[in-house]
Amino acid sequence: MNANIVLGVTGGIAAYKTVEVVSRLNKLGANVDVIMTQNATQFVTPLTFETISHRPVTLDTFKREQSWEVGHVALAQKADLVLVAPATANLLAKMALGIADDMLTTTLLATKAPILLAPAMNTAMWEAEATQQNLRKLLARGVYTVGPDSGLLACRDVGAGRMSEPEVIVAEVERLLLARQAMAGLRVLVTAGPTREPLDPVRFMSNRSSGKMGYAIAAEAVQRGASVTLVSGPTALDAPEGVALTQIQTTQELLDAMLRLCDAQDVIIQAAAPADYRFVEVSAQKLKKRNGEPRTVTMVENPDVAQAVAARKQAGQTLVGFAAETNNAIANAQRKLRQKGLDLIVANDVTLEGAGFDVDTNIATLIHENGLTPLPLMSKHALAAEILDAVMTLRGGAGS
Ligand code: PMT
Repeated sequence: MNANIVLGVTGGIAAYKTVEVVSRLNKLGANVDVIMTQNATQFVTPLTFETISHRPVTLDTFKREQSWEVGHVALAQKADLVLVAPATANLLAKMALGIADDMLTTTLLATKAPILLAPAMNTAMWEAEATQQNLRKLLARGVYTVGPDSGLLACRDVGAGRMSEPEVIVAEVERLLLARQAMAGLRVLVTAGPTREPLDPVRFMSNRSSGKMGYAIAAEAVQRGASVTLVSGPTALDAPEGVALTQIQTTQELLDAMLRLCDAQDVIIQAAAPADYRFVEVSAQKLKKRNGEPRTVTMVENPDVAQAVAARKQAGQTLVGFAAETNNAIANAQRKLRQKGLDLIVANDVTLEGAGFDVDTNIATLIHENGLTPLPLMSKHALAAEILDAVMTLRGGAGS
């Protein structure tokens, strides 16, 4: 493994297991720079990590590694991946808020490298709403996690909160680095969110798509080193850092943007929920009430964006769509796979709890010409990773 790993160690009893993480990474050929928080030094000495990593351990923001480089910027820039093990509840909270008050948190804030956290804490702290909210924020920013596992904790509680075992953490580091190499330089176009079809200057028809699914895919693709364009309907989300964002309102605008952008892409993933219909007449003035008299409006079908993109499919392009279904999800999705000229379709039954619109999780089946893979309930970020792995397998590259 020819990689520079920056390893943050925070103050938890699991810090003793991190020594083995360093040893295993070293054996794989990685360079490991360890940063310890002050609290971490209460559990394991810096000398232990220095001896095992054969490099100086960094403890404070003001120590200069070289005369021209301030330490946190140097490590943040040098890292191919930043791993924090163990990651305490306190570290998660600081990261969620962007607090940078020591060497580790300043490095985490400054780095552009993927970040992998191995949380470890007491079960009640892990399950606390504040921790879970912080975690959701971090996942939405594209931060990765491994664990925690369930079992007997140092505080003698039994439950979730044990740091994952060193071999599991190291396997996840390898998986992330490989996945990143596989997508480096690929051009990926992702669509996300709803469209809005206007009726008059103040009213529109739309749907419940929040954009979370598409934004998670865009964030994951950026983390893997792809060059990512995100075409998004109106959402309340911030675009993931590093994407080129194009905003659209209507399905026609989505179509126009896609036809402009699609030829230059290697992978196109359409997670948006474009309105299938639009109003025939859009009033220039706000429609007024008519003393109880009913009003009839007529709608016409919108163009199918996925079909239009498939009609221009370039050699070597991989086309992925979604199918939002309320019944016969697999059969309907298989039909859409063929009709829309897709290589892969992600079927989600939006009636299932924890799946579909406006939640942080999804339950999906990945379907392609030669088979299907049903997946369990997982975060939209984890599903994004599964989708990109499947895309890379279809393209004949290394999935993970
Ligand atoms: O945004 P979230 O709140 O996270 O919710 C995620 C999601 C439920 C929106 C997402 O997982 C999803 O299923 N997206 C597809 C929604 C949809 O429009 O499904 P569909 O079965 O109607 O369309 C099938 C495919 O054709 C989709 O890839 C869609 O982008 C595309 N389509 C649909 C209509 C249209 N006029 N043109 C299209 O290209």
